[in-house]
Amino acid sequence: MAGNITFTMIKPTAMKKGYMGNIIAKIIEGGFKIKALKMTKMSKEEAMEFYAVHKERPFYNGLTDFMSSGPIIAAVLEKEDAVKAYRDFIGATNPENAAEGTIRALYGTSIEANAVHGSDSDENAIIESSFFFSKREWV
Ligand code: CMP
Repeated sequence: MAGNITFTMIKPTAMKKGYMGNIIAKIIEGGFKIKALKMTKMSKEEAMEFYAVHKERPFYNGLTDFMSSGPIIAAVLEKEDAVKAYRDFIGATNPENAAEGTIRALYGTSIEANAVHGSDSDENAIIESSFFFSKREWV
């Protein structure tokens, strides 16, 4: 059975451009319940740990530099079949291919600075949520 939890981050470029409020509003309008949320900043080491699954990929160094370059929002979201629902909702990884009206189409600027992260499996949703939040911080 699919889980009801996913994890998201609003990425540094979207934060710098002032899209934080619009993106959070859109997430709520999309029927996702916010279970935990914080503004924070990752160190390079933390970004490397978070994205360790991509460590062999050519974009790993650039991605982790970028993700540690400024403030982000980290949030745990709840909805039925949350991982798939949220991935459909935010659009394709590359904003150029993201469907009209999705968060990445509206607020993404490149494949790296694609406005938001979304978990790719139920297992990773829990791992990623636990990376940023203790169970006490979930409501
Ligand atoms: P995200 O959902 O944060 O998960 C992994 C990230 O790697 C992805 O969004 C993209 O921002 C980034 N990514 C994936 N493929 C590439 C690529 N070919 N070049 C640069 N960044 C990429």
